Amino acid sequence: GVPATTAEQPSVDHRACGHGKIILLGEHAVVYGSHAVAAPVPLAVRAVAQDTKSGGVDMFIPRWGVEYRLHRDPAHRDSFQRSLGIIFDELQLTDRSMRIEVFPNVPRAMGLGGSAAMAVAVIRALDQHYKLGLNDEEINALAFRCEEVAHGSASGIDNTVATYGKPLLYKRAGKKGEQPMVRELHLPKRIPLVIGISGKESLTAVTVGKVRTAWQRNPALYDGIFQQIDALTLQGVDAMQQYDLERLGDLMNICHGLLNALRVSSWEVEELVQIAREHGALGAKLTGGGGGGSIVALCPQNREKVVAAIRDAGYQAMEVEIG
Ligand code: MEV
Repeated sequence: GVPATTAEQPSVDHRACGHGKIILLGEHAVVYGSHAVAAPVPLAVRAVAQDTKSGGVDMFIPRWGVEYRLHRDPAHRDSFQRSLGIIFDELQLTDRSMRIEVFPNVPRAMGLGGSAAMAVAVIRALDQHYKLGLNDEEINALAFRCEEVAHGSASGIDNTVATYGKPLLYKRAGKKGEQPMVRELHLPKRIPLVIGISGKESLTAVTVGKVRTAWQRNPALYDGIFQQIDALTLQGVDAMQQYDLERLGDLMNICHGLLNALRVSSWEVEELVQIAREHGALGAKLTGGGGGGSIVALCPQNREKVVAAIRDAGYQAMEVEIG
């Protein structure tokens, strides 16, 4: 390869991406074996790998002001390096001399799957650059290892959507080593949504940890909530396939109530949900890890009104369609 010091004009071959996502129904409960429905959003993380003569693995994420040399010894890596570091160890590239530049178009820590998308993008960039011949299954499995490090009990749903970029129904494996259940969802028509972004960063590791602590104190009570989320998620799949958006909206609202019961909502998230409902959304709920982050609202009509109202309140909003 040609040594280079800048990745400003990467060749298309060396670009690779991982998809951002929303969870429509079932987050958190999915960690405990319930079903969840997720879909990609038109936001992606891209990465590009180039050879250098620098003598190490240099990681650049200009938009986040992140720049570091990967520590060869995993024991010396900080939490940020640890997750992506697994990729280089596993692919036996830790001793190479390279520059990885990442272009994250998924906002960080907003419940939109940024960390999984980043892992997938980096793996794909390395796969292309070093012609490793990884298939999607291998890419997904490696991204899952990164997610496990990023937040201990990851269900694997984020990396799966980041890899495949398709709407899907997901259920994690019963035991370690077993395969999760992944079913692609084919919808009769695309579903119109609004994503509201609170701007309040929240780490999935933290909210997943809070739910775990609460569950440990009263497993029977929390298992009951997870079962209700499981049941409404499966009803939601049916509603999506029938294109019964009224019913889907109801289920999203109830799901949000149960997530609130799990205490993974926040002041900002509640405000966003209220704004969306008041301006005509059929359903609105937090999406992803919660504790801040983003909401998703079902808006077959009034989409512009909901977006405008969210923006007027000082938050970011975008229209997306899934299916
Ligand atoms: C995060 O996008 C979804 C959670 O259910 C965590 C996970 O499934 O790994 C909160």
